[in-house]
Amino acid sequence: LGEKTGFINKKGKKYTMWNTDVFKAHIETTDPLYISIPFYLATDCNNNYGIYFDNSYKSFFDFRVNQKGEYTFGALGGKLDYYFISGNNSKDIIKKYTKITGKMNIPPKWSLGYHQSRYSYASEVEVKKLSSNFREKNIPCDVIHFDIHYMDDYRVFTWDKNNFPRPKKLINELAEDGFKVVNIIDPGVKKDPEYEVYKKGVKNDYFCRYLDGKLYTGDVWPGESVFPDFTKKAVRDWWSDLHQKLLNIGVNGIWNDMNEPAVFSKTNTMDVEVVHENDGSPDLHKRFHNQYALLEAMATYRGIKKYKKERPFVLSRAGFSGIQRYAATWTGDNRSIWEHLKLSIPMLLNMGVSGLSFSGADIGGFTGDSNGELLTRWTQLGAFMPFFRNHSSLQTKNQEPWSFAEKYEKIIKKFITLRYQFMPYIYNLFYKASETGVPVVRPLFLEFPDDKKTYTISYEFMIGENILAAPVYEPDQDKKLVYLPKGNWINYFSGDKYEGKKYIIEDTPLSNMPLYIKSGSILVLTEKSNYIGEKETKDLNINVFLDEKVASKNYSLYEDDGISYDYKNGDYNHKIFSYTKENERIEFNIKNSNCKYKNNYNKYLFSFENISFKPGEIYVDGKKKEKWNYNPQANSLNLKINTNKENIVIM
Ligand code: GLC
Repeated sequence: LGEKTGFINKKGKKYTMWNTDVFKAHIETTDPLYISIPFYLATDCNNNYGIYFDNSYKSFFDFRVNQKGEYTFGALGGKLDYYFISGNNSKDIIKKYTKITGKMNIPPKWSLGYHQSRYSYASEVEVKKLSSNFREKNIPCDVIHFDIHYMDDYRVFTWDKNNFPRPKKLINELAEDGFKVVNIIDPGVKKDPEYEVYKKGVKNDYFCRYLDGKLYTGDVWPGESVFPDFTKKAVRDWWSDLHQKLLNIGVNGIWNDMNEPAVFSKTNTMDVEVVHENDGSPDLHKRFHNQYALLEAMATYRGIKKYKKERPFVLSRAGFSGIQRYAATWTGDNRSIWEHLKLSIPMLLNMGVSGLSFSGADIGGFTGDSNGELLTRWTQLGAFMPFFRNHSSLQTKNQEPWSFAEKYEKIIKKFITLRYQFMPYIYNLFYKASETGVPVVRPLFLEFPDDKKTYTISYEFMIGENILAAPVYEPDQDKKLVYLPKGNWINYFSGDKYEGKKYIIEDTPLSNMPLYIKSGSILVLTEKSNYIGEKETKDLNINVFLDEKVASKNYSLYEDDGISYDYKNGDYNHKIFSYTKENERIEFNIKNSNCKYKNNYNKYLFSFENISFKPGEIYVDGKKKEKWNYNPQANSLNLKINTNKENIVIM
C-alpha cells in the first residue's frame, strides 16, 4: 500500500487511500498520507498473490479479518475494477504489478548522489556559500534544491529579483563546480491579474472550475490561488512548456510539492465538487483527487524531456499507482526525532515493494531541530536509501553535514563518500528496477521468502541481493541485535564473518552502521568523488568475497553515460562477472555481452577475500601474471588487470 507507516506486515489494520498533506507529525496510526497506492501483496511461505485495485476514488483496505477469515476492500465511487495477480513469490508479483502500472525509467546518475536542501536557501549569496563549503570540505554533493523563496512572492515560474538577481549566472557557476539544481514548483498559481501564468491560464480556461463556471480558488503559499486542471491534455502541454525558461537557464530537475493538492482549508484540499474536464468526459474532483499529482508529474516530466533532451529528474510529494514512471517520491514533512528515523525504514521498504523504487525521507528531519547524533545516524541510513536528500524547514537549526561538532561531520562525510563508492552497485540496481520493477531496497522477505522469520523484520533491509543494512535508529546505541538470514555474512567495515539464520550482537559505535555483504558475492565499487562525473576514474574495484560453501557466482553490471538516451541505441555495457571455485583453483571470467559505451576507466582492481589457499600461479588470458599481492594474515589477494582481459585463473 505504498506510503504507509507501521510494520511491513499490514495484517489486522485498516487503511484509506486519499492523498493528504499531513503536516502534523505522522505516527503509526496516521492514515492516509500523501501518496495512494491501492496495491497489496499477500504471502506466506507457499502462497502468494497481489491485488491491484484500479480505482482512483477514496478507497479502503480493511485487513481486520472477520470470523469467516475474510477481509475487504472497496471505494466510495467508480467501478470494482481490480487485478488479481498470481505469482511464485512476491518479486514475481511486483514484476507483474509494474507491468500494469509501469516501471521507473533509468534516472540521471547525478540524481542518485547526495542532495542538499533547505526551506529555503533564500539568496544567491547563501547558495554560493553552501556550494563552496561542500567543495572546500570535500564532502560529496551533486544537487542543491531551491525551495519556495527563490520565487517572486511564490509565483511559480518566476525568480525573486532581489535575492536571485542573476539566476542563469548562478546556475552556470554551480554547474562549473559540479552542482545540479532542482527547483520547487507547486500547482497553485497566484490569483493576480498582472501575472502572466494566471492571465494566460484564465484566458485559455486552464484552471479548475465549479459546475456553475466559477473559478475554484484556495489559499496556498502565494495566498489565494487557482489550480491547473491537469486532466486536460492542453493544460499538461501548457504546463510542460512553462518549464522551458527555467530549463533554458540551466535548471536540471523539478520538485513538485503541495500536489495532493494541499490547500490551507478545513478539508485540507480542493473542494471535491470541483469539476475536472478530462478531455470531454468530465467528472468531479472526488474521482481525480488521487491522480492530480500523477497528472502534474506527467506534465513536468514531459517538459523536462522536451527541453533538456536528457533523462528528467522530478520529485513528487503526492502520487498514485504509476507515479514511478515520472517521479521520485519522498515521505513529506517528518520531524527531527528518532521515532521518524525509525519509522521511515519500513515506510520506504513498503514504498519499494509498491513499485516506488526511487524514494527517500528528509534526512535529519524536516521540522524541529536536528542534532549531531541524529543527523549522523540518519545520514548512515540515507546513504543506502534510493533518494538521498537532507532537507529541513524554515526556522530550524541548520543541518548541513558540518552543522554540528567535527566528530559528527567526519562520520557524515565518510558515509556520503561511501554512497559514491557504492555507485556502480546502486546504479545497477536502478537499471534493474527499470527493467523488472523489483525495488532497489528490499524488505528481507523479498530475498529470503523461505525464511519465515524475515516476514516480520521491519527495520533491516537488503540493498539488492548482496548487501544487508541494519541501521541504528536510537540514540546512544553502542550494541545492536541484528538478524542475519541464511548464508554467511561479512561485516563490510570490520571484515568480521558471521553465520546466518540467527541473531548476532553487533558493536555499533557512532562511526559504524551494521552493513553486511553476503559471503560468496561479487561487489563492484568505484573511487570516491565529489560529484558524479567529477573526474576520470582509473580503476573499477571488483571485490570477490569467497565463501567455503559457494562454488560459483555471477554478477551482471550495466553501465552507460548516466544522463542521455543513447543507451536506447545500444550505447551501454553489459558485463557479466563470474567465478567458479574448485579446491585450490579459482577461475574468474568477464563476459562483455554489450560493450558500446566507452568507460572512463581502463583497469580492474581485484580483491579476492577469504581465499582458502596460498596462490602459487596466476594466469590472465592464459599468460602468466608476475605482479600481484597476497596477504596471508587477511587471506586476501589483490591484482590489477586491463579491462580488455577476460579470464583470470588463480591456483
Ligand atoms: C512543504 C513541503 C516541504 C517544503 C515546504 C515549503 O511543507 O513538504 O518539503 O520545504 O512545503 O515549500
